[in-house]
Amino acid sequence: MLESLKNLKALTGFVLDADSIAVLGAGKIGSIIIRALSEKLDGVKVIATGRSYETLQNAAKLGAIAIRENRKAVLESDLIIISVKPFHFPQLLKETGFDVWVDKTVVSVMAGVTLSTLQKALEGAEVYRAMPNLNAYVGRSATAIAENGSGYRKNTVDALFKTLGTTYWVPEEYLDVWTGLAGSGPAFIAEIIDALAMGAVASGLNRELAYKAVLDVLEGTALLLRARSNIHPAQLRDEVATPSGTTIRGLTVLESRGVKAALMELVEQASRRSREIGTEVNERVVKELTFMLQQVEKNK
Ligand SMILES: NC(=O)c1ccc[n+]([C@@H]2O[C@H](COP(=O)([O-])OP(=O)(O)OC[C@H]3O[C@@H](n4cnc5c(N)ncnc54)[C@H](OP(=O)(O)O)[C@@H]3O)[C@@H](O)[C@H]2O)c1
Repeated sequence: MLESLKNLKALTGFVLDADSIAVLGAGKIGSIIIRALSEKLDGVKVIATGRSYETLQNAAKLGAIAIRENRKAVLESDLIIISVKPFHFPQLLKETGFDVWVDKTVVSVMAGVTLSTLQKALEGAEVYRAMPNLNAYVGRSATAIAENGSGYRKNTVDALFKTLGTTYWVPEEYLDVWTGLAGSGPAFIAEIIDALAMGAVASGLNRELAYKAVLDVLEGTALLLRARSNIHPAQLRDEVATPSGTTIRGLTVLESRGVKAALMELVEQASRRSREIGTEVNERVVKELTFMLQQVEKNK
């Protein structure tokens, strides 16, 4: 434990005051979280749950103690990350029970399930919502985190998600836009990379070189913009676009095909969809929860 605290402090400047972390739902994002925690926090016990043998086996390979029992995982942990699909949340609660959450710190990465719904379901817990993205695989997630007010273990939660990349604390209402921009972002950027590389292939470059070149240009441009933090992207564009040159010829195509407007709409639509899903999910989760809580009361 002491060693892991030192590691985390060196990495993030924060101390993680948790001996044991549970990741409930070791799927795509859950596995990435488990891998980051296991690699960066040797000494902290990571318990992972899943339904299938394959999921559990994979979690064990990544360094977690993989078990089927969600209730046991919660009882044995100080900090719990919920990474099942939103519609599987009620079933997960059936398995944990409602009496295990007091004094636990819970971070949900489930899209759409609000802090207010989480607070109702996880009575006595301190709850947070985080929205990481798949770039966490290479330690470059841009993760937005929202809290419900008390913020007692905010530093711990921040430290935890810094093992995946950068963290941004935001009001909860920003999480839908974040999902539409940063959550879906890797897919949008991948599509743009593919299109640029295909253009290069169409112009005669071999495929392997084309992809390498696009990735270098993308990474380099991001680094350049960061390094010159006060400039607007349009200024960089204007510096490259010499009169009557190649860049302005290309930019004319972007303008005439409405690509910029399309990209703006893409983020707006993805954010809107996140909001819609949030409404659907909360209605369904709240309905199932209310029913389950009534059953618990009846059986008392
Ligand atoms: N993928 C992303 O980029 C991303 C980014 C941010 C947030 N999220 C959010 O993270 C959540 C998971 O997404 P994902 O893409 O990782 O989905 P996923 O790959 O389907 O992972 C979900 C996992 O939950 C497990 N599970 C379901 N019911 C369970 C239960 N009762 N007990 C224990 N484990 C259970 C499943 O186990 P089995 O495999 O054994 O069925 C599966 O491994 C979603 O709510 C999503 O909104 C995802």
